[in-house]
Amino acid sequence: MKQSKRYYIETFGCQMNERDSEIMGQLLKEEAYSATDVMEQADLIVVNTCSVREKAEQKAYSLLGRLKKLKEKNTGLIIAVAGCVAQQDGQRMLQRIPHVDLVIGPQKIYDLPSLLQGQKSCKTPEVRTGLSPLFAIPPFLPDVKNGSHFKRFVTIMQGCNNFCTYCVVPYTRGREISRNFDEIVNEVAHLAASGITEVTLLGQNVNSYGQDNAGTELAGLATFPDLLRAVAKVEGIQRLRFTTSHPKDLSETLMRCFAEIDTLCPHLHLPVQSGSNRLLKLMNRHYTKEAYLDKITRLRTIRPDVAITTDLIVGFPGETDEDFQATMALLEEVRYHNAFSFKYSDRPPARAIAFADKVTEEVKNDRLARLKERQEEITVERNREYVGRTLSVMVEGCGRTNGEQWSGRASTNHIVNFAGPSGLLPGQMISVTIAEGGPHSLRGVADVCNKGREQ
Ligand code: SAH
Ligand code: SF4
Ligand code: F3S
Repeated sequence: MKQSKRYYIETFGCQMNERDSEIMGQLLKEEAYSATDVMEQADLIVVNTCSVREKAEQKAYSLLGRLKKLKEKNTGLIIAVAGCVAQQDGQRMLQRIPHVDLVIGPQKIYDLPSLLQGQKSCKTPEVRTGLSPLFAIPPFLPDVKNGSHFKRFVTIMQGCNNFCTYCVVPYTRGREISRNFDEIVNEVAHLAASGITEVTLLGQNVNSYGQDNAGTELAGLATFPDLLRAVAKVEGIQRLRFTTSHPKDLSETLMRCFAEIDTLCPHLHLPVQSGSNRLLKLMNRHYTKEAYLDKITRLRTIRPDVAITTDLIVGFPGETDEDFQATMALLEEVRYHNAFSFKYSDRPPARAIAFADKVTEEVKNDRLARLKERQEEITVERNREYVGRTLSVMVEGCGRTNGEQWSGRASTNHIVNFAGPSGLLPGQMISVTIAEGGPHSLRGVADVCNKGREQ
């Protein structure tokens, strides 16, 4: 019997890219491809790229460069590049990496099967990177037989309208386009019916879901809180999450959802980027540090157990010691559960590339190290606050040491490693009493097995 063709997908970047890779995998299976974990055995390699920082782009190009050898050995190998670097570089990608066959932008992943058909008849490389503001994200029911059996991502919108001056995303993913409300709810219902119990709603700025319809007959029909409430009603979904939120669009109604929707997990990722009002303005973020802090206070009043995480940039053009100190001070004020911090890098055509007073690499490195060090201390202090508390943990898998060591996640999104009974299954809920809080996780011991709905 003829063996089916095999594909390998390497994914860089955000959860939206992960979801896009799942979709491409599913489309390939419909074309009778099967997945392989061994790149060398693949007939098709898809590199799904991210361009958000210079390092991310370098990683993609470095992998693509290494694929040259595989292509020389196997001339039938098809190499496809998808994601944000593909969108950004388009035709230029073919000049830089001539052994690439297909360059596919984020809106064009659904064309993958037809592009592969094209490669059968004609081996000339093809670039498909159109980005239309009228694009409708197709209804695409996930293949529940593959991938995680208990948690999934659901894309609710694409693109971004915010144009933060450092950010390439509005250029690579285009304008905000919200998915059809009913199709999202249907997708979640489909997942729930197949045993998925945790869903994360995805978008670059989920808070503005539905707002891109302004001026059309759909205007005002649905907001993000409406969507959350509808999805929460789907029977079987025990945990609901969303990412990412823009502070300027975090409304009182959305904050109240954290009190009103019992399945909405008490975790909010709320990227602040800087603690300096001067820089926030230069970044085009549309909020001040004070307005941000007010929202944090309000949210903690509404939902006292909420864990808040953030993203921070150091070394944005013009960042002075004083600006950096303002960011350090913000860490003390908010005391984030965790923070992801990055050195600013120029991302053409984002506007900050033309901003004056670029910060040297040395200063960036120093600031990043200081920020990371302080945040790690705060994270440990925060994690120790859980000692003695009993948390509902969704089992994810076996721990590293042996069968009785398990790993899972609390509703706050903390990784919890724990000793528990044998035979636990991924997706199962179990109560764990926390004994230790470390820099990356909590550690504890399981109480009784709790298969019911989370409290
Ligand atoms: N949509 C999200 C985040 C998208 S990108 C938001 O609005 O916050 C993820 C993170 O990458 C950003 O929060 C920011 O901290 C970082 N980032 C984006 N562009 C960057 C750049 N040019 N240099 C360094 N970090 C950057
Ligand atoms: Fe980039 Fe800003 Fe949009 Fe986030 S909100 S994707 S940081 S432009
Ligand atoms: Fe990266 Fe594009 Fe996501 S730049 S972060 S893959 S939207």
